[in-house]
Amino acid sequence: MGKLEGKVAIVTGGAGGIGAATVRAMVHEGASVVVADYNLAGAQDVVDSLGSDAGRAIAVRVDVGEETQVVEMVEVAVREFGGLDVLHNNAADTGEVYRRDLGLLSMDAEVWDHTMRINLRGPMFGCKHAIPRMLARGGGSIVNTSSASSLSGELVMAAYGASKAGLNSLTRSVATQFGKRGIRCNAVTPGMTLTPGAMENTTAEFREMYVRHFLTPYAGTPEMQADVVVFLASDEARFVTGQIIAVDGGMLSHVPKYGDLMAMDPTEAGPNYAHLFAEIGASTPSTD
Ligand SMILES: NC(=O)c1ccc[n+]([C@@H]2O[C@H](COP(=O)([O-])OP(=O)(O)OC[C@H]3O[C@@H](n4cnc5c(N)ncnc54)[C@H](O)[C@@H]3O)[C@@H](O)[C@H]2O)c1
Repeated sequence: MGKLEGKVAIVTGGAGGIGAATVRAMVHEGASVVVADYNLAGAQDVVDSLGSDAGRAIAVRVDVGEETQVVEMVEVAVREFGGLDVLHNNAADTGEVYRRDLGLLSMDAEVWDHTMRINLRGPMFGCKHAIPRMLARGGGSIVNTSSASSLSGELVMAAYGASKAGLNSLTRSVATQFGKRGIRCNAVTPGMTLTPGAMENTTAEFREMYVRHFLTPYAGTPEMQADVVVFLASDEARFVTGQIIAVDGGMLSHVPKYGDLMAMDPTEAGPNYAHLFAEIGASTPSTD
């Protein structure tokens, strides 16, 4: 029996890298899934890729920042699959406006507002309209996709980081307000994850730099993110709520000098480090 057998889920941003992997993982674990995305053709491609399981998924076009469309998205789940148990608030702006979220002194108010609208107002509408449907079935699980950028300062993307930090707060509020009524709410904070979009928008040098700061010898994949989302959505995580869970290869759990040290010639780092490096077998990481 799958971890989500008989459950009904909505995945926003379901046409994207992490969203599509999560849809596939949820369907594999027995759920019926509304694949909700601004990009309807992309959402339909994800449904079609499910082959003989395609009947347990439906593509829906939604702009998560528009409340009436979010209401309709939830209604599709109820109409097509009989109710709602899981909401994965995963959509975020990763397009043209995101690429204009650079320095604070040149911050355009439109970039700030658009980012908040998709990344924070969107999940708020999702929770607002999903929760009554979940309560009608005795509870449910909400998993928000936040970001490592919500937990530390970034050189760019101040709006994005602030929107995701707000999402962390929303996560805890929902968990607190509705926990006693059977609703759990958690967030995951991915570190750089090799989605098609991330591969297109970053250089190999940039990705290698990231991996130097991971404690794992590899970067994240959409499937690694999806596995954690499925766990949090499932009853296996029934005692986990109100948590901001880093799925980032341990990127934020070590001393800041870690990445630089690992890139150094151990003899230059000093005799203690030469000994330590020999003991732990430090080696050059890979992004392949
Ligand atoms: N890939 C990473 O390295 C990474 C790191 C940290 C956090 N994240 C987060 O993971 C989530 C998924 O990102 P991804 O990397 O898969 O990106 P992606 O661009 O592949 O997917 C995002 C999806 O959201 C959809 N979308 C955008 N605006 C929308 C709107 N208004 N309404 C509905 N759908 C909309 C897009 O069409 C797209 O399919 C995002 O919340 C992102 O912030 C990703």
